[in-house]
Amino acid sequence: MKLIVVDHEGNEHALEALEGWRAMEVIRDWGFDIKAECGGACSCATCHVFVDDTWIEMLDTASEEEENMLDMVPDVEANSRLSCQILMSDALDGLRLKLAPSARGDE
Ligand code: FES
Repeated sequence: MKLIVVDHEGNEHALEALEGWRAMEVIRDWGFDIKAECGGACSCATCHVFVDDTWIEMLDTASEEEENMLDMVPDVEANSRLSCQILMSDALDGLRLKLAPSARGDE
């Protein structure tokens, strides 16, 4: 299955993803610039992404924990999610998201 990622420069990439993997892990393992400081524990918000509007409804609702973390990022938008909380599945094949500036590893 594919995960479509728009990088910090605006370039789009189709990454091969595996069922059950977190979107964050896919992005990180393909070598993209995502800090993901806490390693997926929903406690850093440095895996912040913007999910395409056409896909946002397909995702499970964000937990209160995730919402609380997103409240702390400076560039939060209505389509913001933490990519470590998105589990890849057949239903999400082709999911498209954009890396958020606040997720950059060099900031
Ligand atoms: S990696 Fe820390 S909240 Fe997602």
